[in-house]
Amino acid sequence: MGILPSHTAEALQRNAAIYDRLQSVIPPMEWASFADDIDAIMRLKKERNAVILAHNYMRPEIFHGIADIQGDSLALAREAAKVEADVIVVAGVHFMAETAKLLNPARTVLIPDTKAGCSLAESITAADVRLLRQKYPGLPVITYVNTSAAVKAESDICCTSGNAKKIVESLGVPQVIMLPDEYLAQNVAAQTHVKIITWKGHCEVHELFTASDITLFREQNPGVVILAHPECPPEVIAASDYAGSTAEMVEWVSSHKAGRVVLLTECSMSDNVAVNFPDTHFIRPCQLCPHMKRITLSNIRFALENMEHEVNVASEIAGPARRAVERMIAVR
Ligand code: 13P
Ligand code: SF4
Repeated sequence: MGILPSHTAEALQRNAAIYDRLQSVIPPMEWASFADDIDAIMRLKKERNAVILAHNYMRPEIFHGIADIQGDSLALAREAAKVEADVIVVAGVHFMAETAKLLNPARTVLIPDTKAGCSLAESITAADVRLLRQKYPGLPVITYVNTSAAVKAESDICCTSGNAKKIVESLGVPQVIMLPDEYLAQNVAAQTHVKIITWKGHCEVHELFTASDITLFREQNPGVVILAHPECPPEVIAASDYAGSTAEMVEWVSSHKAGRVVLLTECSMSDNVAVNFPDTHFIRPCQLCPHMKRITLSNIRFALENMEHEVNVASEIAGPARRAVERMIAVR
């Protein structure tokens, strides 16, 4: 490495233990470019009494470098409710920050980029849910957490990809409405006797995987195990070896110790999991989520320096939306 400014060299030294774990996924020059931001974020977390929640799709320098709590949507929701620090910075997308605020309203919740959205959350409005209720009177509405608080407020209960089947069956009814992810709903419907009315929302990342991609991966990598996220189309799930939420994929890799694995999901996921499982070889035909990738070390630093951008939920929406999320969390 060339000559570094003295503050960067000192920052690198202070955070050397973090880099020890990340060498396999971040080249030294790139790590050096992160050093000042990482150092500042570590200091600001103490000054602001803040914690950083990071979704599994965050880049490794965020996920392994500065996050205090990591996980899938379900784990982040559960953990957000327990945070005692004054400030929660959500390194994830907007609906995750809203969920954190719903579950822990006394904390200041910050999102480093307000444009970090989600194609699923964009696919449905509260008015759409009201129309669905009119069309199917009496059917309970199960809403994926990847939605706005306003949509959650119109729902009976939420679900994530990690608990969707359990939530559907917990209601003890023969038919439900499950929205907005059509593929998640179809994938759950294939595993239960409960009839599911679906919506037409799709994840712009997972809808890109195809069953013929899987044929190709298997031809090129004999013996490879394919794990797919349930937001993928049903034909992709059918052609895969296992389907599960991002946390369930981690759990699978941990318990099966497979030699060669493909994770059909967002790009940073394989990098983050590879850090913890160096003996597994990850083949990486991933897709980038442009919304998740809006979150960077520099805008996390800016968020903590300036206490921006604060996420709030209007009180008339917050009550019913919170009930739907808390009802989900109570299902074990
Ligand atoms: P999970 O981490 O809950 O599996 O969700 C994936 C996702 O797309 C979140 O945006
Ligand atoms: Fe939304 Fe898909 Fe991005 Fe997750 S990966 S935030 S579901 S667009």
